[in-house]
Amino acid sequence: MDNRPIGVFDSGLGGLSVIKELNRVLSEENIIYFGDTGRVPYGTRSADTIVKYARQDERFLLSHDVKLIIAACGTVSSVASFTAKELPVPFIEVVTPAAKAAVEATKNGKIGVLGTSATVNSGSYKNKILETDPSVTVVQNACPLFVQLVEAGWIARDDEVTVATAVRYLNPLIEAGVDTVILGCTHFPAIKDIIGDIMGDKVTLINSGEQAAKAAVKYLNEHDLRGSGGKRRYFVSDRAESFASIAGILLGSDIENDVEMINIDSFGG
Ligand code: DGL
Repeated sequence: MDNRPIGVFDSGLGGLSVIKELNRVLSEENIIYFGDTGRVPYGTRSADTIVKYARQDERFLLSHDVKLIIAACGTVSSVASFTAKELPVPFIEVVTPAAKAAVEATKNGKIGVLGTSATVNSGSYKNKILETDPSVTVVQNACPLFVQLVEAGWIARDDEVTVATAVRYLNPLIEAGVDTVILGCTHFPAIKDIIGDIMGDKVTLINSGEQAAKAAVKYLNEHDLRGSGGKRRYFVSDRAESFASIAGILLGSDIENDVEMINIDSFGG
């Protein structure tokens, strides 16, 4: 039994796709979430900046004595996973579990990957898929505007702007005939209905946040690290109010009183 919290971080709201799944399967665990809302997006930045931000986010979570860190961010997982070696606690990223799930799901051997520019440029999902099964064809597309649309809360299934943006981003995947699509940025599950409507119901969507949460459950079980308490605390690096209202919609519960703002710059340079 280990009642220390699980630490989860992302550039903003995206990592809540991991929290949503953790709430379902690990509701009894204590969880600390950090959303770097003052510096979102990460996915258009240089590798050096993403690594610097990731290290600060990890230090913040360690200051809360977490027992496990989940990088609930495709961009950090793609570019800064090596920082795990510097940590005194185990680390779970989102790329490996999602890539494996996609290889298991595809029937025609054609997988689409949607992510941020940094994620797509890193080739992280593609490499992991090809490591698992070299015969698969991978079609990637960077969708940076999705991050902004989700942060703005434009996530309704019939939102005209988000639907039009998605049509444009998904076209290359439809043309390539993929039967499986990895939502390789944790922000994207927030608009999975829109993506699903455009791709059609024969296409399987792999939610990277959900897969990472499953990997975390497996890790905690195998290492006898399960705990209890069920507390949730959310921290952000800019205004708590706007985060809380959209987070409430994504999680389906009111978290207004559980969100605090911190100064992330005080966690190392
Ligand atoms: N949610 C993140 C990801 O999974 C980051 C998006 C961003 O900040 O650009 O890539």
